[in-house]
Amino acid sequence: MSEKLRKAMDFEAKYAGHIAESERPAFHVTPTIGWLNDPNGFSVYKGEYHLFYQYHPYSNEWGSIHWGHVKTKDFIQWERLPIALAPDQPYDESGCFSGGAAELPDGRQLLMYTGVQRHHDADGFIKDVQTQCVAIGDGVRYEKFEGNPVLTAKDLPEGGSAEDFRDPKVWQDKDGSFYAVIGNRTADGSGAILLYRGIEGFRGEFVRTLAQSHNQHGKMWECPDFFQLDGKQVLITSPQEVKPVGLEFHAGHGTLALIGSYDPETGFTREHAQAIDYGLDFYAPQTLETPDGRRIMIAWMQNWSTVGAKPEQCRWFGQMTLPRELHIRDGRLIQNPVRELENYRGQKVEHRNIPVSAEVNLPEVRGRMLDMTVTVRPASQEMFRWFRIRLAKDGEHETVLRYRPDWGTLKLDRTRSGLPYDILHTRTVQVALKDGELKLRIVLDRFSLEVFVNDGEQALSTVIYTRQEADAITFEASGTALMDVEKYELLV
Ligand code: FRU
Repeated sequence: MSEKLRKAMDFEAKYAGHIAESERPAFHVTPTIGWLNDPNGFSVYKGEYHLFYQYHPYSNEWGSIHWGHVKTKDFIQWERLPIALAPDQPYDESGCFSGGAAELPDGRQLLMYTGVQRHHDADGFIKDVQTQCVAIGDGVRYEKFEGNPVLTAKDLPEGGSAEDFRDPKVWQDKDGSFYAVIGNRTADGSGAILLYRGIEGFRGEFVRTLAQSHNQHGKMWECPDFFQLDGKQVLITSPQEVKPVGLEFHAGHGTLALIGSYDPETGFTREHAQAIDYGLDFYAPQTLETPDGRRIMIAWMQNWSTVGAKPEQCRWFGQMTLPRELHIRDGRLIQNPVRELENYRGQKVEHRNIPVSAEVNLPEVRGRMLDMTVTVRPASQEMFRWFRIRLAKDGEHETVLRYRPDWGTLKLDRTRSGLPYDILHTRTVQVALKDGELKLRIVLDRFSLEVFVNDGEQALSTVIYTRQEADAITFEASGTALMDVEKYELLV
């Protein structure tokens, strides 16, 4: 074991115990200690689900990136494993950046990641060399391949940047071959996703460029994934420097799903482009396919532009979303919490046909770890003007969801959710009533809120840092709305 890896493990062993379980989410993945960003290597290995993450144990800020490691049998209860990778080789001395994992035919586990070497050029500018590297292991310990790096500038298509060439996502396809999709920057300065084949031989043969931004959907495309879903082919990526478009795409780091078809002869044809999550905190999603054929996605529940807004002196920072089951309906991406969450539902509280106008709270409807579905419809011919839910509430704090049927918008507002800076705290999404109703499934886990709209047609995620005693929930409408509430506490 390298000195760097040993040092990081010793550091964890010394300090991680200082963080009480109650200071963390109960079922959302957090770093053992320090900083976490992208999910990596989300995959099935020997019948369990493995998840690695971009990890800087030594502070609550990004730096010297290792790979943290957890695994689970049900996506809800996670077991911590030793750190998998440290930046301990010349080719990855500036970080083991994002990547993927897969089970090899001989039973070993393959990790593929981006090795970064950062140096100053002759004019003093910082330059990266980004290459793809592999490590092989048994699900706990990993050895880097002595032939690393396996993909370098020479494997790029013409005009591809060797400085922005990262985040391989690996999978074994139906034809038995192992493929990887990798983010790249093209000569026009914007992003592209490259497809490689032959990864099982610890090398890669460039197949084709699957899609390009052409400066339409942001600049560099990070963290791609490529999979079949309900008869369609889906390419997801996380573009940097997105320009805002209506309420669909917001400025800065965004997420993009391109839905279409794939023909091995002619390539990927896109039919539809959409954002993946419409909340404030969501980036770098990655997926796996379960043995029972479900496509599950997990993402970093953060946004690069707001990572500075953390609770003072927090000892962990960064968390993953709840894993979500994906589908395609009417050509769009549908996402709902993994069904395993339902196994952790405790007591059920149900209220039906409650008229809402002035602010009300309902018996036993409160909490910070819950799974609650609220269905709202007009009480008469006359449409209510707005409907509002306030959650994680005390005299000082609240996180608010507000629906305006005339504009067809749902607004998420975490202005008073305990974040210490006056950064962007609201986001609004276009939402249509479905059969005259709005259905919101809301999952709370101490420090986050995830909303699934109309059976997963849209999702909105945000982190919150309110004290746990802020647990009241109230409902209010201008005009009168009729509401059903089904609430379960979650016992994890
Ligand atoms: C995305 C990203 C990746 C990179 C990693 C570094 O959030 O920028 O492109 O591999 O983070 O930590």
